[in-house]
Amino acid sequence: MDQKRPLLEEDDDFVYHNSGTQRWKRITIALLAVYNVLVSVALAVVVLSKTSPTEGSTLTPPPSIIQKELAHELQSVQAHPGSTFSGPPSPEHDEAWSELLRPLFVNVSASELMRVNVDPINQLRLFDGGYIASLETYHHLHCIRRLKWHLYESYYFANITDAARTLELNHMNHCIESLRLATMCHADTSLYTLKWRGEGKRPEPINHGQRKCTIWNEIEQWAMPRAVSNNPKLVNPDKLVVSSTTAEETGMPRH
Ligand SMILES: *[C@@H]1O[C@H](CO)[C@@H](O)[C@H](O)[C@H]1NC(C)=O
Ligand SMILES: *[C@@H]1O[C@H](CO)[C@@H](O)[C@H](O)[C@H]1NC(C)=O
Repeated sequence: MDQKRPLLEEDDDFVYHNSGTQRWKRITIALLAVYNVLVSVALAVVVLSKTSPTEGSTLTPPPSIIQKELAHELQSVQAHPGSTFSGPPSPEHDEAWSELLRPLFVNVSASELMRVNVDPINQLRLFDGGYIASLETYHHLHCIRRLKWHLYESYYFANITDAARTLELNHMNHCIESLRLATMCHADTSLYTLKWRGEGKRPEPINHGQRKCTIWNEIEQWAMPRAVSNNPKLVNPDKLVVSSTTAEETGMPRH
């Protein structure tokens, strides 16, 4: 028996090896078939994505912190001359911008963060509860106001230190890049043409378009009740109270 075992084992091995080869052949053929299907699908996706770009309606929008569906309205594209937000510095002008930007920083809860796929771990918490956050549209408005301040540096940045100016340059370059990307993301395709204006016949642009705009009041209705100060008390992960106090020292206006 013992002497026969190696032979039996050899036989067994042979039989096993033989049927194994056939099984591997079948598996290999199956794998090749799957591979072919995958390559075909990948090629089809590449070809289709080149010929018909993904349509907006087929994209799933990312979850928004504002849960209600925002209403829209058509607005004419012409900027209104004499807007409170335009023109040189004045107390009324500064007040209008401050009021517009009052909810630059808002208070959101952990469950709201999780709903928009933000892990609350390591996000800055407000000392009085909730998390400090900001809507991107308010970040853009903050950038616009601050860029405008640089048109009137002797008014807004009279006492700025050299170090703060270097930071400010980086900050404003970041702002311009954010605005560039947002402008291209929300590409406004309303059309400009030109007409002759005045005695000297200078070309003047006219925009004929209307555009679909978020009703701003709806954003404010969400943001205003959640507004926190521009210099709130924060908690860091070690539960230490942090509050920034450097703005006056560097001669910089706040936000
Ligand atoms: C943030 O909101 C929560 C829930 O409404 C509230 O308990 C907390 O006090 C708020 N935090 C601040 C800084 O207002
Ligand atoms: C600059 O400093 C002077 C003197 O301290 C002060 O009166 C003025 O308000 C400051 N200007 C700005 C824009 O901070």
